[in-house]
Amino acid sequence: MAIDTKELYEKIDELMGSDVVIQGWIRNHRKQKEFGFIDFSDGTCFRHVQVVYDDKLDNFLDIQKYRVGCAIEVLGEVVKSPKEGQEFEIQAKKVLLVGDCGEDYPIQPKRHTREFLREQAYLRPRTNLFQAVFRVRSVLAYAIHKYFQDRGYVYFHAPIITASDCEGAGEMFHVTSFDLDKVPVVDGEVDYSKDMFGKATSLTVSGQLEAETFAQAYKKTYTFGPTFRAEHSNTKVHANEFWMIEPEISFCDLEGDMEIMEDMLKYVVSYVLKHCPDEMKFFDQFVEKELLKKLDKLVHSKFSRVTHKEAIDILQKADVKWEFEPKQGEDIAKEHEKYLTEYFDGPVFITDWPKDIKAFYMKQNPDGETVAAVDLEVPGAGEIMGGSQREEDYDKLVRRIDELGMDKEELAWYINLRKYGTTPHSGFGLGFERLLIYVTGVENIRDVIPYPRTPGNCDV
Ligand code: 4AD
Ligand code: MG
Repeated sequence: MAIDTKELYEKIDELMGSDVVIQGWIRNHRKQKEFGFIDFSDGTCFRHVQVVYDDKLDNFLDIQKYRVGCAIEVLGEVVKSPKEGQEFEIQAKKVLLVGDCGEDYPIQPKRHTREFLREQAYLRPRTNLFQAVFRVRSVLAYAIHKYFQDRGYVYFHAPIITASDCEGAGEMFHVTSFDLDKVPVVDGEVDYSKDMFGKATSLTVSGQLEAETFAQAYKKTYTFGPTFRAEHSNTKVHANEFWMIEPEISFCDLEGDMEIMEDMLKYVVSYVLKHCPDEMKFFDQFVEKELLKKLDKLVHSKFSRVTHKEAIDILQKADVKWEFEPKQGEDIAKEHEKYLTEYFDGPVFITDWPKDIKAFYMKQNPDGETVAAVDLEVPGAGEIMGGSQREEDYDKLVRRIDELGMDKEELAWYINLRKYGTTPHSGFGLGFERLLIYVTGVENIRDVIPYPRTPGNCDV
């Protein structure tokens, strides 16, 4: 039976001197006249294994023809390696070709640009960088589930197809079963009553509203699923399809919400540092200088807190030529986020946002101007989380929905939660890819999602 190289590394003391079978791919191949070295990886761990073979093997000449990318099976003895920094190598007794690889294989053992690899998205997990990124993605997803499950949260699957626009930004992808060449129209308007669901529907931008229904039943719940935004933002941190984690907690105010945001972020970062040491060392060495120092600091620091008003004050006093002048009552631009995270030298919570630039469901503060909302800004990824205390007061919520001219009927179920045992409650959304950008140092969202969907790009 073949052994995973992960296990081989874990049990190396025990396995030294014995024969093993390994199955994987050739990453590099150096040939000499009487012997050869195969840089071998099976993907079960970040580290590769060196396979050494010589001309005593009967298929020696065939082996020398095995190209980078070939799938092989090796039977060999685990021996101490003379090479510095390498614990062991496999002295091959048999090397079998499992799957040949064409000469035109694009992933050769040399430095490829990330742009080039984006065009080869289906092959890029075979490179060191993407091996590391997507394993960390997997481990981080597990850490998030573990954090919430260990604390008694119920995992809630929010619907993907929905009739409500949670963020009210109108950035939704329509879902229809109409033949788009023959859309039924009545009085110049599309007749959605004839569509699959009898009404206009879209892909969800957030599972929050539905998660609130579960929070009112289970006290603590969270979603972790794909969300979709039809925005034409061609930035390094926006995608049209991204994954979001959205906890929702009853009997919890904004203060409690921020405590969970901070605690969870520290937990998942520590988890990855502990469980992906090789990958994290690689990022630190080749992707972001001092990444480990940054993350270690995060784990041991207390996050800074400012109100939106204070943040704008800081920005206005800064000696910087802004592209967008910071103004009270207005949103915070990318350049402002960057300045603030540098100013506070780490993650910073910005609270109490102007109500007019935030969503309808946020709890209105007594000043009548701001809402109990919070964004967490981090160096590099910018806004990584956004949350708020929710408006639990029936009348205030209805008034806000009316002010914004939203459809009350479509939201009746949501509004009714305030009628049937309402509680103060809060939650937040963590952009999973933004978290990955922060944790790996890989700065473009296109490089932390396996098959990115961004404007003009939907390959594979
Ligand atoms: O700030 P947003 O829009 O908040 C919500 O959707 C709330 N319903 C969350 C909640 O309170 N339950 O999105 C939340 C997070 C952002 O902070 C950001 O990290 C990420 O989702 N995000 C994106 N990530 C990648 N591409 C995009 N286009 C994103 N838009 C938001
Ligand atoms: Mg936001």
